[in-house]
Amino acid sequence: MTTVTLIIVLRAVHVLAGVVWAGAMFTLVATGPLVAGKTSAADAILAVRAKQKRIAMVTGIAALLTVAAGMALYGMLHSGPQSTGDHILGVAALIAILSFPVAGIIGGPANRKLGRLALLLQSEKREPSAGEARVVDALMARSTLATKIAAALLAIAVLGMATWRYF
Ligand code: HEM
Repeated sequence: MTTVTLIIVLRAVHVLAGVVWAGAMFTLVATGPLVAGKTSAADAILAVRAKQKRIAMVTGIAALLTVAAGMALYGMLHSGPQSTGDHILGVAALIAILSFPVAGIIGGPANRKLGRLALLLQSEKREPSAGEARVVDALMARSTLATKIAAALLAIAVLGMATWRYF
């Protein structure tokens, strides 16, 4: 494979996977935790968790491909003397990478607590008490906040990726 062909393949993988990664997060923010058609609180929470896990798997694979191809491109094309554009590209890449641990640290514990509470409610075949319902609301709010922060970081990263060439 020639160097130019390799660059084309890496760019194709990078941009496609990046679009899937960022697009999934933007869609999640736009649609919220869809739970229509669920009869009990436990079912509704478990449906949200199932959706979260699926999205985490898809975005995890897409993020890995984006970062791997992006790092290869950076090494091949941008490791020399740094222009302003290269700096913007580097910062945009770091912001994209950062969105993953930030979302995990803010939303991860809340999501796991929600899952445990839902399993408890399901095993005891009951609806949440008033206190538990407040906890569910607070955990959902934290989970949504984590998604919004990750999406905002990815939006900044995408803007940097799209414009660095012109600085
Ligand atoms: C959601 C995340 C991301 C998206 C949507 C995205 C998208 C893009 C797009 C559309 C370009 C082409 C811009 C142009 O050539 O003018 C690009 C270039 C680039 N991206 Fe990303 N990117 C993302 C994350 C990352 C990450 C995490 C890294 C590094 C680890 C990275 C490294 C690069 C590099 C080095 C280039 C320049 C390639 C070249 O000069 O041919 N990107 N990215």
